[in-house]
Amino acid sequence: MSDFFSEKLIPQLETNHIGKNIVYLEETDSTNALAKREKNYPCGTVFVAGRQTDGRGRSGRVWQSNDENALYMSILIKPDISPQKISSITLVFGLAVFNALRGYADIGIKWPNDIILDNKKLAGILCEMSGNEEKIDYVVCGVGVNVNNTSFHDEIKDIATSLRIQTGKGYEITEIAAEILNEFDILYAEFLNKGLDDILIKYKNNCITLQKDVKVIMNNTETDAYALDITSEGGLLVRIDKEEKVIVSGEASIRGSIGYA
Ligand code: BTN
Repeated sequence: MSDFFSEKLIPQLETNHIGKNIVYLEETDSTNALAKREKNYPCGTVFVAGRQTDGRGRSGRVWQSNDENALYMSILIKPDISPQKISSITLVFGLAVFNALRGYADIGIKWPNDIILDNKKLAGILCEMSGNEEKIDYVVCGVGVNVNNTSFHDEIKDIATSLRIQTGKGYEITEIAAEILNEFDILYAEFLNKGLDDILIKYKNNCITLQKDVKVIMNNTETDAYALDITSEGGLLVRIDKEEKVIVSGEASIRGSIGYA
């Protein structure tokens, strides 16, 4: 049986591969967890929920998901590439979300893939992979976008924002979902066919973390650093004291030297 969300979403899709199957639930624990449970669904299946009861962020954090003012969406993919190359999918998906949202507001990407508006977080991405050193089983690319939210829980109220808060307007959530899926369809194909090089150039042009002082937070310790570049594998090259070090996505969080980004 078709649902209202999918009925509105499907006509807006211009994809070749992503979103040929849509699973919409009014409520689930987490669309990433749902996609992992349904890992036998075909590559490109999209899972969306109206609310999440256990929305997850990076580093085990909670993702506020208690109302229907935001987008909670996860894409299941099964790329036939070497597992050594897959960690940069998080940047590919980050650029797709950036491209989708850039028409709505003046945003930037905080490495590896937070979407930042007015020095606050507008959207967050959680990519989770399963497989071994020889073969990728599946990857789940999850995104939460604060669309029509008017308030946030106390713990995040100073670092989170929404399109509604920033622009004073309300938006159709299916439109935002379609833009993300359309952009990801293009970039995912480019990544599979040509690799990361060209995508990285576009990513770097919009990454607000580079060429500035940052704080690297690892194991509850904050270290001052200067963000130099993104490596060809998608790591963040920083200078700490006089030494250069590559930070791999998932191993640390980055903050601006003043404020969140
Ligand atoms: C972050 O910490 O920045 C990542 C947040 C990712 C949230 C999204 S909402 C849809 C999907 N389901 C989840 O439980 N998490 C991701």
